[in-house]
Amino acid sequence: MSKELKFDFNYEILPENYTQFDLSFKLIVIGDSGVGKSCLTNKATKNIFEENYNATIGFEFFTFNIKFGEKIIKLQIWDTCGQELYRSLITNFYRNSSLAIIVYTVTDRASFDNIDLWYKELRTHSNPNVKVFLIGNKIDLENERKISTEEGQRYAEQYKLNKFVETSAKTGFNAKNIFIEAAKILYEDYILYHKDNDDSDNNSETSGKKTDGNDKSVDINTGKSDNNGEKRKCC
Ligand code: GTP
Repeated sequence: MSKELKFDFNYEILPENYTQFDLSFKLIVIGDSGVGKSCLTNKATKNIFEENYNATIGFEFFTFNIKFGEKIIKLQIWDTCGQELYRSLITNFYRNSSLAIIVYTVTDRASFDNIDLWYKELRTHSNPNVKVFLIGNKIDLENERKISTEEGQRYAEQYKLNKFVETSAKTGFNAKNIFIEAAKILYEDYILYHKDNDDSDNNSETSGKKTDGNDKSVDINTGKSDNNGEKRKCC
């Protein structure tokens, strides 16, 4: 049974063309051709769903802006094409990405089997601390389902991925939520990392504003920390 992601913190989604930001992170969306990578990013960022299949050539760029408390986070999303022909182009994007979203469709066994290849390629070329989400798309086509929710969940647990979510770009189920979750995880990690490593680079770009304090966990609503969190490394 597909679960909808729920959030227990306050946030505000800002327009795609919003120019101001405090922190910016790069995300890459990968997976086989036709699994719905472009549709998912289009649905999440522009609320558009395209029935006709137009294969991405190379890559497309999207932004997702979200505010947590006083902080504005900009996600720079590189939606890549799944065709073999363009694979060498994609490898250039792995290195700078803080988070990778690997997409398969629950209606196609081959797209699920190929996650292994995408995951290995990502691990070969990316920052070792890159966060990874696994997404099973097209759950509106329940009658054509070949991959159960449990199977997707097991894969994510086996490889200790940061999140497993099922989505439908068509209905919009969880489409925005995966980017809200991505922004939250990257923001929390950024704050914890910068409390431990004053001036280190963690693949994020900032507007020059600095976080403060010495503690180890963060309240996403305020950006403030308390004493109870664990020490973690950021990507
Ligand atoms: P490449 O650009 O070739 O890598 O493909 P892609 O992964 O970006 O796939 P794309 O988003 O272009 O979608 C491929 C086809 O699947 C299109 O015809 C979409 O309409 C359809 N599609 C995408 N997501 C969904 C979904 O959630 N449900 C249904 N029913 N169809 C979807």
